[in-house]
Amino acid sequence: MAVTECSHLPEDVRPIARLDAEARIAHIRAERWVQHAAADRVLGYLQEALEQPPRERMENVLLVGESGMGKTMLVRKFERQNTTQFDSTVGIQRKPVVVMLMPHQPTEVQFFNQLLQALNAPSPSHFTHGFPVRDPAVRLLRQLGTRVVVIDELNSLLAGSARQQRVFLQLLRFLSNELRLAFVGVGVPEARHALLSDSQLRSRFSDIELSPWVLGEDMRDFITRLTWSLPLREPSPVDSPKLRRLLLERTGGITLGMCKAFERAAIAAIHAGREKIELRSFEDPEIWRGVATPGRPVGLSARNRARQALL
Ligand SMILES: Nc1ncnc2c1ncn2[C@@H]1O[C@H](COP(=O)(O)OP(=O)(O)OP(=O)(O)O)[C@@H](O)[C@H]1O
Ligand SMILES: [Mg+2]
Repeated sequence: MAVTECSHLPEDVRPIARLDAEARIAHIRAERWVQHAAADRVLGYLQEALEQPPRERMENVLLVGESGMGKTMLVRKFERQNTTQFDSTVGIQRKPVVVMLMPHQPTEVQFFNQLLQALNAPSPSHFTHGFPVRDPAVRLLRQLGTRVVVIDELNSLLAGSARQQRVFLQLLRFLSNELRLAFVGVGVPEARHALLSDSQLRSRFSDIELSPWVLGEDMRDFITRLTWSLPLREPSPVDSPKLRRLLLERTGGITLGMCKAFERAAIAAIHAGREKIELRSFEDPEIWRGVATPGRPVGLSARNRARQALL
């Protein structure tokens, strides 16, 4: 097949498939968003949370899923989907969605430091030295028109003492009432316990889950899209019930493992000049290096697992 054709690929991937091997491998290794049905559903719920009218009792969302299912990628996509143009009349770039990381210490100062960092506010440490940190952060959220604050890795709250946890949840309740904005808590399934000590707040969170993949149309569709995202010059007639069963067996249905296996298979196909992924590509043990088989290793985040896998 001529290098210029690549008609088996979506139009936006074709120009990448024409690049040299090194550039294509870099593209495969870089972060790419692959749309899928479960992500579409979750993004729909998050959009509803964003579009609810400001009111006293805001509906919040708790998004849970096993490590590596793609929660962080999904909330980043939600943030990108809702970026706004720079408003030159008031000189402000509005930020309807803010994604922040739960601080390791669930204290008010640490929380606002993380928040200010997520808002790209200048020198958050400026606020910690004797300045009340709450007021400038609240003012900034108002100015930026923030409607949703996403707190990723909410499960870190469980590392705090019972008292710290209670005080922290009160702070969220205060911010939600004061600013009439919604919170989206994100974490591994244990994150559900993080909200239990405040029943009033808990009742304002609806749970949604990004569940591990199971055999079915959704998984089939994801594999097709994942294959399309890889700039190989030949079509990869790889999807089959056999491959899907193998993927579930080896990864427990965790997105990270599936993506890793396909990316490695694609890189091997470029190195070997085969330019396509086949079922036998997955027989190579190298493809599965560092991919956790079912029964997730406790306390290892997707980021750390991916890092380990690269060592
Ligand atoms: N929609 C997607 N498109 C492409 N790759 C994805 C997608 N979802 C997940 N991945 C892959 O899975 C990896 C893990 O995703 P992510 O870091 O979002 O997981 P997580 O659920 O936040 O895990 P943790 O709970 O450990 O933080 C990503 O680095 C990427 O390789
Ligand atoms: Mg994450």
